Amino acid sequence: MSAEIFAKVKQVIEEIESAIPQDVDQLEKFRIRFLGSKNIIKPMMGEIRNIANEQKREFGQLVNSAKQIAEQKFQNLKSAVESAAESAKAQDIDLTAPAEPLALGARHPISITMNRIVDIFSRIGFTVAEEREIEDDWYNFTAMNTPENHPARDMQDTYYLKGSAETLLRTHTSSVQARVMTTQQPPIRIIAPGRVYRNETVSARSHCQFHQIEGLYVDENVSFADLKQTLLYFAKEMYGPETKIRLRPSFFPFTEPSAEMDVYMGTADEKSYRLTKGTGWLEVLGCGMVDPQVLTNCGIDAEKYTGFAFGIGIERSAMQFYDISDIRLLFENDVRFLDQFKSAL
Ligand code: PHE
Repeated sequence: MSAEIFAKVKQVIEEIESAIPQDVDQLEKFRIRFLGSKNIIKPMMGEIRNIANEQKREFGQLVNSAKQIAEQKFQNLKSAVESAAESAKAQDIDLTAPAEPLALGARHPISITMNRIVDIFSRIGFTVAEEREIEDDWYNFTAMNTPENHPARDMQDTYYLKGSAETLLRTHTSSVQARVMTTQQPPIRIIAPGRVYRNETVSARSHCQFHQIEGLYVDENVSFADLKQTLLYFAKEMYGPETKIRLRPSFFPFTEPSAEMDVYMGTADEKSYRLTKGTGWLEVLGCGMVDPQVLTNCGIDAEKYTGFAFGIGIERSAMQFYDISDIRLLFENDVRFLDQFKSAL
């Protein structure tokens, strides 16, 4: 008789232990069954009168433990079910609510200007070549026919890397010419956009870092007329179809003959007057026919091939185009400044 009653209680304990209420409703059912005012454990205590005296104590403990197990389980499940309900509520998103605006970035005016120039030359078959900013002396100077005692090689003008007379921050993108010509044979038709460094005092008009786009064209029968026509095409695409250019004789160690190209802005408006210092002409780039010695230095047959090269300064164009009065603004990365170019391209 006692054994049967014991077994009944144990069965209830098993039932409590194996119950897994999944939601608030099921949990409530669990509570009513085992802990409510008419729970099934309570009447079991009454059975104690049918238990033999020496087992009464044990029986009482067993029934109590059933109660405790039920209570404990209920508390645990309650907090689990409640937090599940909380997070379900959090996921209850209103899909019709207006979206938070996405904070879109803006391209840097230097990038916009470089992309425009790259695009113009891509259309006539130039491909982009990008190279390192930390360069060997040979590619930056020696290959480019800049003699040992040339002022450009001076420590005053060039950033050499600590403890090295051979490694420097490139002073112009012309180093890419040497990189390309030592690894490729003509026909070569590349443009190389990138950053360059010179040890200059930072002011509103000049900076110790700036950007250039190098152009290089090497093939059979490339002439100065080809250079001039290519640059005229560039100027018209960049500054408008009516643009006039002029080439002034100049000097670079790696081109012969060399020239500087100006575009005609006129003096009609105040901005053009100021930019051109009253002449109407704005200096845009340096260029020339690749010196045969440079071809030879790089392992290209100077008897067979000729070429032209040019180097365009980016900052000046960007500042002119966007009316930026101080070059330092381009390197401060002030979001209030950069934000203004959102609609630019
Ligand atoms: N490298 C020259 C400079 O930095 C520009 C240039 C490039 C001139 C190519 C001629 C040919 O001023």
